[in-house]
Amino acid sequence: MSARSKAASRNSTGPEPLWYKDAIFYELRVRSYYDANGDGVGDFEGLTKRLDYLQSLGVNTLWLLPFYPSPMRDDGYDISDYTEIHPDCGTLRDFKVFLREAHARGLRVVTELVLNHTSDQHEWFQRARRAAPGSVHRDYYMWSDTPDKFRDVRIIFQDFEPSNWSWDPVAKAYYFHRFFSHQPDLNYDNPAVRREIMRIVAFWLGHGVDGLRLDAVPYLYKREGTGCENLPETHAFLRELRSYIDENFPNRMLLAEANQWPEDAVAYLAEGRECQMAFHFPLMPRIFMSVRMEDRYPLTDIWAQTPDIDPSCQWALFLRNHDELTLEMVTDEERDYMYSEYAKDPRMKRNIGIGRRLATLVDNDRRVAELLHSLLFSLPGSPVLYYGDEIGMGDNIYLGDRDAVRTPMQWSPDRNAGFSRADFAQLYLPPLMDPVYGFQSVNVEAQMRNPSSLLHWMRRMLEVRRQHPVFGTGSIEVISTDNPSALAYIRVPTGAEGGTSKPRRTRRAGNGPSPEGTPAAGDAVLCVSNLSRFAQPAQLPLHRWEGMTPIELLGRTPFPPIGELPYFVTLPPYGFYWFGLV
Ligand code: GLC
Repeated sequence: MSARSKAASRNSTGPEPLWYKDAIFYELRVRSYYDANGDGVGDFEGLTKRLDYLQSLGVNTLWLLPFYPSPMRDDGYDISDYTEIHPDCGTLRDFKVFLREAHARGLRVVTELVLNHTSDQHEWFQRARRAAPGSVHRDYYMWSDTPDKFRDVRIIFQDFEPSNWSWDPVAKAYYFHRFFSHQPDLNYDNPAVRREIMRIVAFWLGHGVDGLRLDAVPYLYKREGTGCENLPETHAFLRELRSYIDENFPNRMLLAEANQWPEDAVAYLAEGRECQMAFHFPLMPRIFMSVRMEDRYPLTDIWAQTPDIDPSCQWALFLRNHDELTLEMVTDEERDYMYSEYAKDPRMKRNIGIGRRLATLVDNDRRVAELLHSLLFSLPGSPVLYYGDEIGMGDNIYLGDRDAVRTPMQWSPDRNAGFSRADFAQLYLPPLMDPVYGFQSVNVEAQMRNPSSLLHWMRRMLEVRRQHPVFGTGSIEVISTDNPSALAYIRVPTGAEGGTSKPRRTRRAGNGPSPEGTPAAGDAVLCVSNLSRFAQPAQLPLHRWEGMTPIELLGRTPFPPIGELPYFVTLPPYGFYWFGLV
């Protein structure tokens, strides 16, 4: 068996309905990844050439940002044709080759379903603005004679838009837009619009796409006197969408982009009747807060506020993505704190958030980057890595909008970071060239050669995570300790949680023989982290686990068994341990 088919059989994309619970996502822009035809923009042919790299990194699900025809005024979230490929990214044929090659390597593919709005260049809008008021075609969008309706609706792109209504001189009416004025919102009260969306879904799922990220999903329906978010009508539509998909395209996954408080985000999972996954937006800034405050409270507090979810559902956890580090789901005080700590230069602010990458947010401190990833990989949910963060890429805050974090992937110290053979001036964005984060110092080739690089560390961590499915499927028991800088929790296999009784040993159940004292797939895992820049002690009340031996999972070193007294751990600055309990 070749290495490729071995990996594919280990990590098959076959019919496993809950595959997303063990998913490790890698979010990427096709345009930023690798330019095969030398025109200065990444394309599907280039991405296909980089699939071996992605497979060797240890991720198993690729989430692709929009690659559809678009005027590109919102990085492709302004779609002008839903069932084609932007010519810069290649052709539908290139996409099919990419999908087939990704599946052959055991990599699933999640694409974007931008269902709240289109580009104003979409033929639906061009037709609507000319159609007779009240006609089906006019009503693909939302029109008004005044900009006074829906006054309670918040404005999201505060850097750019003074109102959610804009005047269209052709229609001679105002149209509603939740985001940029060139992105008119679709009218979900029109059944023709709902049918169009089902048709788009069928197109991509019919091509074999494994999942869809539902962009900006809370805003679909609008009702006067409400904030027009999370309305019952929106949830009803999602149930209809889910049933349609389950009936026609089994084992596909819907991932909600609902930037909401935990109880509102959970509603998009609806005990498994709407989306299977939702991003945990409020957790993300609190991870950054906890580390800067050296206090676990922000993180444990938001986790305590997070309702339990159905076992068929899963959180998508992330540290950074293609947008700003959003500060919508925090209090005013928390927002001030985040700005003062992480956006010292006002140019780092974007909308209600901070437009920076992970490495720059943590001042390029490798220890903090590792600690944050260890939390991302061990808290309940499926982790989502953002392209380039695996090598510690930086950002360019002098670029407009959110382009700061969308610069070309840094493959090598060669011309244009090895991303493209085009002339530098032709590149869609300049690669980073500063002395700290520039491609001469931060690139895949150099980190591949260096066994102690961040990239190799990431590969090892993902390997350990894959060996222990409890990270994806288990529950969490937070362990209280007197030291606020210490964060401890146990990931408990399903069926072994709860109560004061001793957990049963699960490691022999269905996991085949494993040498005595070696943690196996079914074992519980104790995670202990130090959020402080100084060494810290932690005493952990682990009575329920008395008699078990913690085995450190990276080195497989046995630690002293857990006894009657609180378990004592000494943690180096920003240190963390994952212990299998055997
Ligand atoms: C989502 C996307 C963001 C985009 C917005 C409007 O929030 O993540 O990048 O600008 O939708 O489409």
